[in-house]
Amino acid sequence: MRLDKFLADMNMDSRSNLKKAIRKGNVTVNGSQVKDPGAGVERTDRITYFGQEVRYETEQYIMLNKPKGVLTATMDKKQETVMDLLDPDRRKDLFPVGRLDRDTTGLLLITNHGELAHRLLRPKSHVDKTYQALIRGCVDEKIVEAFAGGLQVDAELSAMPAKLVIHPLPTLQEAEERFPDLEEETRALLEQAWMEENLSASNQKDATSSEGKGLQNCPSKVISYISITIHEGKFHQIKRMFEAVDMEVVELKRITMGGLTLDDDLAPGESRALTEEEVSIILSDGKLL
Ligand code: URA
Repeated sequence: MRLDKFLADMNMDSRSNLKKAIRKGNVTVNGSQVKDPGAGVERTDRITYFGQEVRYETEQYIMLNKPKGVLTATMDKKQETVMDLLDPDRRKDLFPVGRLDRDTTGLLLITNHGELAHRLLRPKSHVDKTYQALIRGCVDEKIVEAFAGGLQVDAELSAMPAKLVIHPLPTLQEAEERFPDLEEETRALLEQAWMEENLSASNQKDATSSEGKGLQNCPSKVISYISITIHEGKFHQIKRMFEAVDMEVVELKRITMGGLTLDDDLAPGESRALTEEEVSIILSDGKLL
C-alpha cells in the first residue's frame, strides 16, 4: 500500500498533512528517510512518523457518542450517517456494530473487525446492553416484574427477561445533561411533573432504585426515568417492549454494551479509539480472548 495511506489508516493526520510531512522528510521506512507519499510499503515495515514508530493495526475499534438525527449505516444518499461523523481520512472498511434508531443516542462501537461484530450481534451471544430512558407515564413495579419475566411484545417478538430499574425523576437541567437535544415534548412533561405533582425530596427518595426493595410507586405519573438492560437487540426492541405495556419511550440513550461503557467526556457526535483495556474487554465479550 502507499506510505501516506499506511499513516492515514492509523489516523496519524489528514491525508494532505501526511503528504506534506512525508515530503518534508519526517517519515522513515525501515530506517531510511522516504520523501515520496506514494512509495509502496508493507504492513510489516518499520515506519516512523516524527520519530515515533507507527505499527499497522489490522483491526480498529472506535467508540462514538451517537447524537440524535443521524442514521446508523455505513452510507446513505440522503441522510447523514454515523460514519460521516468520523475523520474523513478514516479507513474505509469501518462499520457500526448493530444499530441505534435515528432518535436514539449514546454508545456505538465502530470497527472493521467483522468476526467480533458477528459474535457480539448473533442472537445466542446475549451481550448485555444498558440504556437510560425517559418514558411517558408511570413506570411502576408491575412493569418491572413484567419485564423481568420476559414479555410477549407482539406476534413476532417474545422478549427475553430484561432488568428495569426505576430512578428518581431528574430535574429539567439534569435531564438536559443526560439526554442530548431533549425534545420539546419531553421538556414539557418534565416541567409538568415538577410543577403539578410538586415532587418532594421525600417521594423522590422512595424511588432511588427499585433494586432490593419492595413494591414502589413511580415518582411521577406523567414521566418516568429508568434504566433497562436487555440481552438481545431486536428491531426497536425497547420501544416495542414499552408499547406492549401501553407506554411510550420519549428519550433513549445507550450507556453500555457488554463490558464497554460510554465515555462521559465524549460530547454527542464525538468519537475516540478504544483504549487497549477496552479492546480486551470487548474482545472478551465476543469470546475472542
Ligand atoms: N431499542 C430501541 O427501541 N431503539 C434503539 O435504538 C435501541 C434499542
